[in-house]
Amino acid sequence: MSKIYSLIALLPFIQFGLVNAHVAAWAKGMYCLNGTRPGIDDQDNSAPVQPLFELSKNDWWMQGITKCMDFPPPQGTFLTLPANRDFKVELATNRGFTTLGWGGTRLTKFAGPINVPEDQFGKSGKCITDPNIHTINEETAAGTVFAIAYKSDPRAVQPEDLTVFTVKYHTVWYREVTYDVPDLPECPPDGCVCAWGWVPTDTCGEPNMYMQPFKCTVTGSSPNARPVAPAKPPVYCEGNPSGCTAGAKQMVFYNQLEGNNVQYDSAKGNPYYNERMGFKEGRQADIFT
Ligand SMILES: *[C@@H]1O[C@H](CO)[C@@H](O)[C@H](O)[C@H]1NC(C)=O
Repeated sequence: MSKIYSLIALLPFIQFGLVNAHVAAWAKGMYCLNGTRPGIDDQDNSAPVQPLFELSKNDWWMQGITKCMDFPPPQGTFLTLPANRDFKVELATNRGFTTLGWGGTRLTKFAGPINVPEDQFGKSGKCITDPNIHTINEETAAGTVFAIAYKSDPRAVQPEDLTVFTVKYHTVWYREVTYDVPDLPECPPDGCVCAWGWVPTDTCGEPNMYMQPFKCTVTGSSPNARPVAPAKPPVYCEGNPSGCTAGAKQMVFYNQLEGNNVQYDSAKGNPYYNERMGFKEGRQADIFT
């Protein structure tokens, strides 16, 4: 996309202040796809993209603060996780920049419109704020995850029920991201609860976190799929692999008023979903009982 063209594409969004938004994972089965105003189908929805920082547990857990959980996907609509294969979602700062908004007419390769030519994106050496993806380049992008709980009500899920089952290093960067699925067992009839998680790059903005709810289901489990074990909090263990939490790990919850499972250590940096907190890339094969 040429510079002029992408600037023009961006103009309407600058007016609405949406360039200050952050990022969500967009896919069927997400809560609050249409936004958080009853009866309104908002193609420019940015409700689920908000970062979570210094909030009470009811406010940060699954985005209680935005009321996203009050807007479930339609009955029977799930994020489908094919066991031993993979699934694709779109990471973007607004529904309007995904295939789920405006009929997919405002897409770029990245998590939102960019204001430099594609081959210059991420070359400035500074934190990218447009789109607001909290990284300098793809290499410094810290990583994102999906977690699963074998319960159907996101409010009933406890941290130990919600196990990180897939990790993608060097995201958020491109819009389309593919996550690998281990041999997860099947979900209850009303589906499982899944959550997308992100801890952004520590030099690019406040040390906050993202936690976004989905209704999900697993297809194609193998007959010998085993239950997912109760998850334990991850710990800082970069350069000390034997100090990492082994097996099923919880999502990272930090810098909230309550309910933290990781104590933020500014000397070690933000608790990333990568080697820093003992998360290997790809499907997490060691999470089963
Ligand atoms: C979102 O809006 C569309 C179009 O109005 C509607 O068909 C769909 O049911 C809405 N989704 C939910 C969960 O309300």
